[in-house]
Amino acid sequence: MNNIDSITHLRGESIYLDDIPLINGTLFAAAFPSPIAHGIIKQLDLSEAENMPGVARIFTCKDIPSENQVGGIIPDEPLLADHHVHFCGMPIALVVAETRDAARAAVKKIKVVIEPLPVITNPREAQENNELIVPPRTFRLGDTANTWPQCAHVFEGSADTNGQEHLYIETQGAYALPQENNALKIYSSTQAPTAVQRAVSKVTGLSMHQLDIEVIRLGGGFGGKEDQANTWAALCALAALLLKKPVKYSLHRMEDMAMTGKRHPYSSDFKIGLDNNYKILAYEARFFQNAGAAADLSPAVLERTLFHCTNAYFIPNVTATAYSCRTHLPPNTAFRGFGGPQGMFVIEAAIAKAAEALGIPASVIQEKNLITTGDEFPYGQKAESEATACWQNAMQLYDIGSIRRQQAAFNNSHKLLKKGLALMPICFGISFTKTLMNQARAQVHVYTDGSVAVSTGAVEMGQGVNTKMLQVAAQVFSIPASQVKIQSTSTYRIANTSPSAASATADLNGKAVLLACTEILNRLKAVAAEEWNTPPTAIELKDEWLWVNGEKTGWDWKRLVMTAFVKRISLSEHAHYATPEIHFDASKEKGHPFAYHVYGTAIVETTVDCLRGIYTTDAVKVVHDFGSSMNTAIDLGQIEGGIVQGIGWMTLEEVIYDKEGRLRSNALSTYKVPDVYSVPKEIAIHYLATEKDNLAIFRSKAVGEPPLMYGIGVYFALRNAMRAFNPNAVMPFDAPMTPEKVLMALYAATATAAIKPQAGVNII
Ligand code: MOS
Repeated sequence: MNNIDSITHLRGESIYLDDIPLINGTLFAAAFPSPIAHGIIKQLDLSEAENMPGVARIFTCKDIPSENQVGGIIPDEPLLADHHVHFCGMPIALVVAETRDAARAAVKKIKVVIEPLPVITNPREAQENNELIVPPRTFRLGDTANTWPQCAHVFEGSADTNGQEHLYIETQGAYALPQENNALKIYSSTQAPTAVQRAVSKVTGLSMHQLDIEVIRLGGGFGGKEDQANTWAALCALAALLLKKPVKYSLHRMEDMAMTGKRHPYSSDFKIGLDNNYKILAYEARFFQNAGAAADLSPAVLERTLFHCTNAYFIPNVTATAYSCRTHLPPNTAFRGFGGPQGMFVIEAAIAKAAEALGIPASVIQEKNLITTGDEFPYGQKAESEATACWQNAMQLYDIGSIRRQQAAFNNSHKLLKKGLALMPICFGISFTKTLMNQARAQVHVYTDGSVAVSTGAVEMGQGVNTKMLQVAAQVFSIPASQVKIQSTSTYRIANTSPSAASATADLNGKAVLLACTEILNRLKAVAAEEWNTPPTAIELKDEWLWVNGEKTGWDWKRLVMTAFVKRISLSEHAHYATPEIHFDASKEKGHPFAYHVYGTAIVETTVDCLRGIYTTDAVKVVHDFGSSMNTAIDLGQIEGGIVQGIGWMTLEEVIYDKEGRLRSNALSTYKVPDVYSVPKEIAIHYLATEKDNLAIFRSKAVGEPPLMYGIGVYFALRNAMRAFNPNAVMPFDAPMTPEKVLMALYAATATAAIKPQAGVNII
């Protein structure tokens, strides 16, 4: 079925935070951000700002009635700076005024004197200074130290990935409305209504049951609103509570880019050892995560880097250590893949380095080492692998031999245009790595007219989760989709929710919907069984009609519902689901953290213009492990979007902070995101359909994050194209591979004169 939002999206009728009608008297907020990255506030002068027209009040940390704290995992993040500032963009004060423009004008009149302190932006430097968010963690399998002597080939190197701006189309924001007895209703653009509720509770001192956080939908999240929506909601809540007026804050794009964290940049070291048959015997990695100035979700992101440090490969001896390094950047946060892609880039770099040195295609090493069922991941879980199935299907379906031949022929006949190929297998674990978060609840009401309303903890952010929730209810009751409505996400209806994150939202909430609907269905069946004097097993609901002993009756769904109501049978249910079987012991770094894994393989083809440094992605051809897809149109959209977002991270998007910790790429004029020209000319997606994973909803598989990692293949395909032009190109593993870097690598000092382009060469 179509995404249920498609019609309102098309008509522009879908409601986002900025579409919520404003209550009379609503005030508007704007934060005054720290102009420098690290220092001590010596003086804060609000007098001129306070006298600006329309200003209602300016709040500082002194106005906070309870705790000045929004840190989720670790309480290390003040809502408003108190004495210290830790990053450029850190909110110091909040102006509340009659209009948005008045608030922003007043922000410009605030004067602050900050005594600067040394600024660290590099994670390795932070680690050397022992500036760590949490103690380092190490995952171990086998014994690397004793394996090196057995390796025929050993390679070492480093690999860096940059951050990534989430660039959700809807910026961060919140709208807080005072209710009676100090309660607050808050509309928030958040992936995590409960996280907002907790943060607001902490800051205001109100109990969680006084806080209704409601989300209709988000214009994108990508992880950026998993934890970082809290600040804006807490600021609005604070002002609304103290002024007894509705307060709204919807961030300007440049505020959002400057004040919020991004994907974590990583700097990493690797060492890889292979035998003569290219089997990887040992792998060591050290990951330096640039966490920014506060913990935010960094410790959890760090963990996922370790979980995915061997990607889709089985390596018998692994030692991987990860450091979460505190720098003076805005706290970095969740971003689609949640640290996994950063870990996977490093093993792919290690394999590429080995392949280049050995003079073989990386795919030879990749294929030899794919993880198979029964192999152990470094964290102890045994694989139920589709890695080889995806890989071999891709090779055959897309005829890798012919792609190679065509590329070789092209490269032979073109001097300045070169094609490159890379294969990118992926493996991604599904479940929150923190076991307790793998729970969800759903509330289902059947009304007496037969219509059904479903509430869950899932937040719709364009990923189509509401459509999938609706499908579950419609399928269990066997009623048309038009009979089911998915309600907004509200902490008054569904409590203690996990964020919509970790690709697991449809699984967790879908299972809860399934349980709730099944419970109501069983009650309805019991009613019918009594009426027909047969056992409930003889009762069936098919296409809105009641069937008894395989025969259609004259009763439709509505009549059955009404009969149950008359008999005073409950037509509502609130169900709870917790993923069974998963566990993880962080003291041993071993366990079974994931319900299942998602696998896939992409064949990536690129062309580099070696005169200009520009390039195109010709094709990304994928065999992806869908399980039994619930909604192929939605899943296809997730995969295409993920691939393009991954390509952006790997090739174009360059988050640039200067040495003083100021964001230089602070607008779309200086931060390049994929446009229609960066999209692969061809995206082919083949469904590897399996029916194994009952821990997923209807044996579908989670689809949100994994496809982003196909984009990593584009980086390595570009590298191969560049090597076809200049085998001596100087190419450190340093993503993104921007056109500027391509050009510089191709013509770096070691390039020989012979391959330098000559005037008048026809490049086409
Ligand atoms: Mo997602 S990166 O798990 O919000």
